[in-house]
Amino acid sequence: MRILVVGGAGYIGSHTVRRLTQVGHDVWVYDNLSVGHAAAVPDGRLVVGDLADSVALEKALRDHAIDAVMHFAAFTSVPESVSEPARYYRNNVVGALNLLDAMRTVGVGKIVFSSTAAVYGVPDHVPIPEDSPPRPINPYGFTKLAIEHALADYARAYNIGFAVLRYFNACGASSDTSIGEDHTPETHLIPIILQVALGRREHVAVFGTDYPTPDGTCVRDYIHVEDLAEAHLRVLARIEPGKGLTYNVATGVGYSVRQVVEAVRKVTGHPIPVVERPRRPGDPPVLVASSQAIQRDLGWTPRYPSIETIVQSAWKWHSTRPNGYADYKL
Ligand code: UFG
Repeated sequence: MRILVVGGAGYIGSHTVRRLTQVGHDVWVYDNLSVGHAAAVPDGRLVVGDLADSVALEKALRDHAIDAVMHFAAFTSVPESVSEPARYYRNNVVGALNLLDAMRTVGVGKIVFSSTAAVYGVPDHVPIPEDSPPRPINPYGFTKLAIEHALADYARAYNIGFAVLRYFNACGASSDTSIGEDHTPETHLIPIILQVALGRREHVAVFGTDYPTPDGTCVRDYIHVEDLAEAHLRVLARIEPGKGLTYNVATGVGYSVRQVVEAVRKVTGHPIPVVERPRRPGDPPVLVASSQAIQRDLGWTPRYPSIETIVQSAWKWHSTRPNGYADYKL
Protein backbone atom coordinates (compact mmCIF):
# COMPACT_ATOMS: atom_id res chain seq x y z
CA MET A 1 0.00 0.00 0.00
CA ARG A 2 1.11 3.60 -0.58
CA ILE A 3 0.92 5.26 2.82
CA LEU A 4 1.38 8.89 3.86
CA VAL A 5 2.54 9.08 7.46
CA VAL A 6 1.73 12.56 8.73
CA GLY A 7 4.07 13.31 11.61
CA GLY A 8 6.32 10.44 10.51
CA ALA A 9 9.47 12.28 11.66
CA GLY A 10 8.24 12.22 15.25
CA TYR A 11 8.74 9.61 17.91
CA ILE A 12 5.88 7.13 17.35
CA GLY A 13 5.49 8.05 13.68
CA SER A 14 9.11 7.25 12.80
CA HIS A 15 8.97 3.83 14.46
CA THR A 16 5.78 3.08 12.56
CA VAL A 17 7.36 4.20 9.26
CA ARG A 18 10.17 1.79 9.95
CA ARG A 19 7.80 -1.13 10.58
CA LEU A 20 5.61 -0.36 7.54
CA THR A 21 8.72 -0.15 5.35
CA GLN A 22 10.10 -3.44 6.71
CA VAL A 23 7.04 -5.32 5.46
CA GLY A 24 7.15 -3.70 2.01
CA HIS A 25 4.68 -0.81 2.13
CA ASP A 26 5.57 2.24 0.04
CA VAL A 27 5.82 4.88 2.77
CA TRP A 28 6.03 8.69 2.53
CA VAL A 29 6.36 11.09 5.44
CA TYR A 30 4.66 14.50 5.66
CA ASP A 31 6.06 16.51 8.56
CA ASN A 32 6.78 20.17 9.33
CA LEU A 33 9.80 19.18 11.46
CA SER A 34 8.58 21.40 14.32
CA VAL A 35 9.24 18.57 16.75
CA GLY A 36 10.24 15.74 14.42
CA HIS A 37 13.69 14.91 13.08
CA ALA A 38 14.62 14.57 9.39
CA ALA A 39 17.26 12.02 10.44
CA ALA A 40 14.48 9.74 11.70
CA VAL A 41 12.98 9.46 8.17
CA PRO A 42 14.31 7.06 5.52
CA ASP A 43 16.31 8.84 2.78
CA GLY A 44 14.26 10.56 0.11
CA ARG A 45 10.92 9.87 1.80
CA LEU A 46 10.32 13.20 3.55
CA VAL A 47 7.89 15.86 2.32
CA VAL A 48 8.34 18.94 4.53
CA GLY A 49 4.92 20.53 4.96
CA ASP A 50 2.43 21.79 7.49
CA LEU A 51 -1.03 20.53 8.37
CA ALA A 52 -2.30 24.10 7.96
CA ASP A 53 -1.26 24.02 4.28
CA SER A 54 -4.14 22.29 2.49
CA VAL A 55 -2.60 22.79 -0.95
CA ALA A 56 0.64 21.06 0.07
CA LEU A 57 -1.31 18.26 1.77
CA GLU A 58 -3.40 17.59 -1.32
CA LYS A 59 -0.28 17.69 -3.48
CA ALA A 60 1.48 15.13 -1.30
CA LEU A 61 -1.55 12.82 -1.43
CA ARG A 62 -1.79 13.15 -5.23
CA ASP A 63 1.93 13.08 -6.08
CA HIS A 64 2.44 9.79 -4.30
CA ALA A 65 -0.94 8.26 -5.25
CA ILE A 66 -1.62 7.60 -1.57
CA ASP A 67 -4.01 4.79 -0.56
CA ALA A 68 -4.02 5.35 3.21
CA VAL A 69 -2.95 7.94 5.77
CA MET A 70 -1.62 7.57 9.30
CA HIS A 71 -1.92 10.70 11.38
CA PHE A 72 0.58 11.26 14.20
CA ALA A 73 1.18 15.01 13.89
CA ALA A 74 -0.17 16.47 17.10
CA PHE A 75 1.00 18.26 20.20
CA THR A 76 1.00 15.71 23.02
CA SER A 77 1.94 17.29 26.33
CA VAL A 78 -0.87 17.28 28.91
CA PRO A 79 0.52 20.16 31.03
CA GLU A 80 1.24 22.29 27.95
CA SER A 81 -2.32 21.73 26.73
CA VAL A 82 -3.56 23.11 30.04
CA SER A 83 -1.46 26.29 29.78
CA GLU A 84 -1.75 26.77 25.98
CA PRO A 85 -5.11 25.33 24.87
CA ALA A 86 -5.34 27.59 21.79
CA ARG A 87 -2.25 26.01 20.25
CA TYR A 88 -3.59 22.54 21.00
CA TYR A 89 -7.04 23.10 19.50
CA ARG A 90 -5.57 24.75 16.41
CA ASN A 91 -2.95 22.11 15.70
CA ASN A 92 -4.72 18.97 16.89
CA VAL A 93 -8.28 19.76 15.80
CA VAL A 94 -8.03 22.22 12.91
CA GLY A 95 -4.92 20.45 11.57
CA ALA A 96 -6.59 17.02 11.60
CA LEU A 97 -9.72 18.43 9.91
CA ASN A 98 -7.52 19.91 7.16
CA LEU A 99 -6.02 16.48 6.65
CA LEU A 100 -9.44 14.77 6.50
CA ASP A 101 -10.68 17.36 4.02
CA ALA A 102 -7.57 16.97 1.85
CA MET A 103 -8.24 13.21 1.84
CA ARG A 104 -11.83 13.83 0.74
CA THR A 105 -10.74 16.19 -2.03
CA VAL A 106 -8.15 13.77 -3.39
CA GLY A 107 -10.23 10.64 -2.73
CA VAL A 108 -8.09 8.88 -0.12
CA GLY A 109 -10.40 6.65 1.90
CA LYS A 110 -8.45 5.17 4.82
CA ILE A 111 -6.90 6.66 7.94
CA VAL A 112 -5.34 5.45 11.18
CA PHE A 113 -5.60 8.11 13.86
CA SER A 114 -3.39 8.40 16.95
CA SER A 115 -5.66 8.93 19.90
CA THR A 116 -4.83 8.73 23.56
CA ALA A 117 -5.55 7.37 27.00
CA ALA A 118 -6.31 10.98 27.90
CA VAL A 119 -9.79 10.63 26.31
CA TYR A 120 -10.86 8.51 29.30
CA GLY A 121 -10.13 11.12 31.97
CA VAL A 122 -10.60 9.49 35.36
CA PRO A 123 -12.06 6.10 34.38
CA ASP A 124 -14.67 4.17 36.40
CA HIS A 125 -12.90 0.83 35.88
CA VAL A 126 -9.29 -0.21 35.55
CA PRO A 127 -8.04 -1.76 33.26
CA ILE A 128 -10.09 0.53 31.04
CA PRO A 129 -12.12 -1.16 28.28
CA GLU A 130 -12.79 0.67 25.00
CA ASP A 131 -16.47 1.13 25.87
CA SER A 132 -15.62 3.11 28.99
CA PRO A 133 -17.27 6.54 28.54
CA PRO A 134 -14.78 9.13 27.27
CA ARG A 135 -14.58 12.04 29.71
CA PRO A 136 -11.32 13.94 29.21
CA ILE A 137 -10.02 16.11 32.05
CA ASN A 138 -7.52 18.12 30.02
CA PRO A 139 -7.52 20.05 26.71
CA TYR A 140 -5.21 17.49 25.07
CA GLY A 141 -7.78 14.74 25.69
CA PHE A 142 -10.59 16.95 24.35
CA THR A 143 -8.71 17.68 21.12
CA LYS A 144 -8.23 13.97 20.43
CA LEU A 145 -11.82 13.11 21.33
CA ALA A 146 -13.08 15.84 18.98
CA ILE A 147 -11.31 14.13 16.07
CA GLU A 148 -12.59 10.71 17.11
CA HIS A 149 -16.11 12.15 16.72
CA ALA A 150 -15.23 13.82 13.42
CA LEU A 151 -13.94 10.49 12.08
CA ALA A 152 -17.18 8.71 12.95
CA ASP A 153 -19.19 11.47 11.24
CA TYR A 154 -16.92 11.54 8.17
CA ALA A 155 -17.19 7.75 7.90
CA ARG A 156 -21.01 7.93 7.86
CA ALA A 157 -21.26 10.89 5.51
CA TYR A 158 -18.26 10.43 3.19
CA ASN A 159 -17.55 6.70 3.40
CA ILE A 160 -14.07 7.18 4.89
CA GLY A 161 -12.78 4.09 6.72
CA PHE A 162 -10.81 4.68 9.91
CA ALA A 163 -9.09 3.16 12.89
CA VAL A 164 -8.58 4.98 16.17
CA LEU A 165 -5.73 3.72 18.34
CA ARG A 166 -5.81 5.00 21.90
CA TYR A 167 -2.28 4.77 23.19
CA PHE A 168 -1.16 4.74 26.71
CA ASN A 169 2.35 5.91 27.67
CA ALA A 170 4.65 5.39 24.69
CA CYS A 171 8.26 4.62 25.57
CA GLY A 172 11.38 2.71 24.50
CA ALA A 173 13.31 2.85 21.22
CA SER A 174 14.03 0.71 18.18
CA SER A 175 15.90 -2.46 19.12
CA ASP A 176 18.93 -1.55 16.95
CA THR A 177 19.01 2.01 18.45
CA SER A 178 18.76 3.51 14.96
CA ILE A 179 15.82 5.68 16.06
CA GLY A 180 14.40 6.62 19.46
CA GLU A 181 12.85 9.31 21.63
CA ASP A 182 14.15 12.89 21.42
CA HIS A 183 11.92 15.75 22.58
CA THR A 184 13.00 19.32 23.37
CA PRO A 185 12.18 20.14 26.05
CA GLU A 186 11.70 16.64 27.43
CA THR A 187 8.67 16.27 29.69
CA HIS A 188 8.12 12.48 29.74
CA LEU A 189 8.99 10.49 32.79
CA ILE A 190 11.28 7.74 31.47
CA PRO A 191 13.60 9.95 29.36
CA ILE A 192 13.78 12.47 32.22
CA ILE A 193 14.88 9.78 34.68
CA LEU A 194 17.42 8.51 32.15
CA GLN A 195 18.82 12.03 31.85
CA VAL A 196 19.51 11.81 35.59
CA ALA A 197 21.30 8.50 35.00
CA LEU A 198 23.36 10.21 32.26
CA GLY A 199 24.35 13.00 34.66
CA ARG A 200 22.38 15.63 32.74
CA ARG A 201 19.97 16.35 35.59
CA GLU A 202 20.60 16.20 39.31
CA HIS A 203 17.30 14.60 40.25
CA VAL A 204 13.85 13.66 39.04
CA ALA A 205 10.84 15.56 40.37
CA VAL A 206 7.94 13.32 41.38
CA PHE A 207 4.74 15.25 40.66
CA GLY A 208 2.28 14.34 43.40
CA THR A 209 2.72 11.83 46.21
CA ASP A 210 -0.82 11.98 47.62
CA TYR A 211 -2.77 10.27 44.84
CA PRO A 212 -5.16 7.44 45.79
CA THR A 213 -2.68 4.80 44.55
CA PRO A 214 -0.65 2.20 46.49
CA ASP A 215 2.45 4.42 46.86
CA GLY A 216 0.74 7.81 46.35
CA THR A 217 2.24 8.45 42.88
CA CYS A 218 0.49 8.26 39.48
CA VAL A 219 0.15 4.89 37.80
CA ARG A 220 0.53 4.57 34.02
CA ASP A 221 0.48 1.80 31.41
CA TYR A 222 3.84 2.00 29.61
CA ILE A 223 3.70 0.66 26.07
CA HIS A 224 6.77 0.12 23.91
CA VAL A 225 6.94 2.17 20.73
CA GLU A 226 7.64 -0.93 18.59
CA ASP A 227 4.48 -2.54 19.99
CA LEU A 228 2.60 0.59 18.97
CA ALA A 229 4.11 0.45 15.47
CA GLU A 230 3.00 -3.18 15.09
CA ALA A 231 -0.55 -2.24 16.13
CA HIS A 232 -0.67 0.36 13.33
CA LEU A 233 0.51 -2.13 10.76
CA ARG A 234 -2.09 -4.70 11.77
CA VAL A 235 -5.06 -2.36 12.08
CA LEU A 236 -4.42 -0.82 8.66
CA ALA A 237 -5.21 -4.16 7.03
CA ARG A 238 -8.65 -4.26 8.69
CA ILE A 239 -10.01 -0.84 7.74
CA GLU A 240 -13.17 -0.93 5.61
CA PRO A 241 -14.90 1.95 3.79
CA GLY A 242 -17.47 3.78 5.90
CA LYS A 243 -16.56 1.83 9.04
CA GLY A 244 -14.49 2.57 12.11
CA LEU A 245 -12.42 0.54 14.56
CA THR A 246 -11.34 1.76 17.99
CA TYR A 247 -8.73 -0.02 20.08
CA ASN A 248 -6.69 0.61 23.18
CA VAL A 249 -3.01 -0.18 22.70
CA ALA A 250 -1.61 -0.95 26.13
CA THR A 251 -0.11 -3.71 28.23
CA GLY A 252 -2.84 -3.90 30.89
CA VAL A 253 -0.23 -3.49 33.62
CA GLY A 254 0.35 -0.26 35.52
CA TYR A 255 3.52 1.08 37.14
CA SER A 256 3.71 4.00 39.55
CA VAL A 257 6.20 6.83 39.14
CA ARG A 258 8.19 5.39 42.06
CA GLN A 259 8.22 1.94 40.43
CA VAL A 260 9.55 3.43 37.19
CA VAL A 261 12.30 5.22 39.14
CA GLU A 262 13.15 1.91 40.81
CA ALA A 263 13.31 0.11 37.45
CA VAL A 264 15.74 2.76 36.14
CA ARG A 265 17.91 2.34 39.26
CA LYS A 266 18.06 -1.41 38.58
CA VAL A 267 18.83 -1.12 34.87
CA THR A 268 21.38 1.72 35.06
CA GLY A 269 22.89 1.18 38.52
CA HIS A 270 22.49 4.93 39.18
CA PRO A 271 20.94 5.96 42.55
CA ILE A 272 18.50 8.44 40.83
CA PRO A 273 17.84 11.08 43.49
CA VAL A 274 14.17 12.06 43.77
CA VAL A 275 12.50 15.27 44.97
CA GLU A 276 8.80 15.36 45.78
CA ARG A 277 6.76 18.11 44.15
CA PRO A 278 3.04 19.05 44.05
CA ARG A 279 0.68 17.39 41.57
CA ARG A 280 1.01 18.42 37.92
CA PRO A 281 -2.24 19.96 36.54
CA GLY A 282 -4.31 17.62 34.32
CA ASP A 283 -2.81 14.31 35.54
CA PRO A 284 -5.30 11.48 36.22
CA PRO A 285 -4.20 9.21 39.12
CA VAL A 286 -4.38 5.87 37.26
CA LEU A 287 -4.44 5.06 33.53
CA VAL A 288 -4.17 1.36 32.77
CA ALA A 289 -6.02 -0.18 29.84
CA SER A 290 -7.38 -3.47 28.70
CA SER A 291 -6.01 -4.40 25.29
CA GLN A 292 -8.10 -7.57 25.01
CA ALA A 293 -9.99 -6.28 21.97
CA ILE A 294 -6.91 -5.71 19.81
CA GLN A 295 -5.37 -8.97 21.02
CA ARG A 296 -8.52 -10.88 20.10
CA ASP A 297 -9.27 -9.17 16.76
CA LEU A 298 -5.80 -8.53 15.37
CA GLY A 299 -3.65 -11.10 17.16
CA TRP A 300 -1.53 -8.23 18.49
CA THR A 301 0.33 -8.80 21.72
CA PRO A 302 2.89 -6.62 23.52
CA ARG A 303 6.46 -7.86 23.11
CA TYR A 304 7.69 -5.60 25.93
CA PRO A 305 5.20 -6.14 28.75
CA SER A 306 7.52 -5.40 31.68
CA ILE A 307 8.82 -2.02 32.78
CA GLU A 308 12.36 -3.37 33.08
CA THR A 309 12.59 -4.49 29.43
CA ILE A 310 11.09 -1.15 28.39
CA VAL A 311 13.60 0.81 30.45
CA GLN A 312 16.44 -1.36 29.08
CA SER A 313 15.35 -0.50 25.54
CA ALA A 314 15.11 3.23 26.31
CA TRP A 315 18.45 3.16 28.15
CA LYS A 316 20.18 1.51 25.19
CA TRP A 317 19.10 4.40 22.95
CA HIS A 318 19.76 7.23 25.43
CA SER A 319 23.16 5.89 26.47
CA THR A 320 24.20 5.27 22.83
CA ARG A 321 22.90 8.65 21.65
CA PRO A 322 22.95 10.96 24.69
CA ASN A 323 22.28 13.98 22.44
CA GLY A 324 19.50 12.25 20.52
CA TYR A 325 19.38 13.08 16.82
CA ALA A 326 22.03 15.78 17.26
CA ASP A 327 24.48 12.85 17.47
CA TYR A 328 23.64 11.91 13.88
CA LYS A 329 25.59 14.93 12.64
CA LEU A 330 28.80 13.87 14.40
N1 UFG B 1 6.07 12.67 36.00
C1 UFG B 1 6.82 13.00 37.12
N2 UFG B 1 7.97 13.71 36.91
C2 UFG B 1 8.39 14.11 35.69
C3 UFG B 1 7.61 13.76 34.55
C4 UFG B 1 6.44 13.05 34.75
O1 UFG B 1 6.47 12.67 38.25
O2 UFG B 1 9.43 14.78 35.58
C5 UFG B 1 4.85 11.89 36.21
C6 UFG B 1 3.61 12.59 35.67
O3 UFG B 1 3.06 13.44 36.62
C7 UFG B 1 2.73 11.38 35.34
C8 UFG B 1 3.72 10.29 34.96
O4 UFG B 1 4.98 10.69 35.47
O5 UFG B 1 2.06 10.98 36.49
C9 UFG B 1 3.86 10.11 33.46
O6 UFG B 1 4.07 11.38 32.90
P1 UFG B 1 4.50 11.61 31.40
O7 UFG B 1 4.63 13.09 31.19
O8 UFG B 1 5.62 10.73 31.05
O9 UFG B 1 3.25 11.05 30.58
P2 UFG B 1 1.71 11.46 30.70
O10 UFG B 1 1.04 10.33 31.42
O11 UFG B 1 1.47 12.81 31.22
O12 UFG B 1 1.34 11.57 29.17
C10 UFG B 1 1.28 10.47 28.35
C11 UFG B 1 1.43 10.90 26.92
C12 UFG B 1 0.28 11.76 26.55
C13 UFG B 1 -1.01 11.06 26.88
C14 UFG B 1 -1.02 10.69 28.31
C15 UFG B 1 -2.27 10.02 28.72
O13 UFG B 1 2.62 11.59 26.72
O14 UFG B 1 0.34 12.06 25.19
O15 UFG B 1 0.06 9.84 28.57
O16 UFG B 1 -2.61 10.54 29.99
F1 UFG B 1 -2.05 11.83 26.67
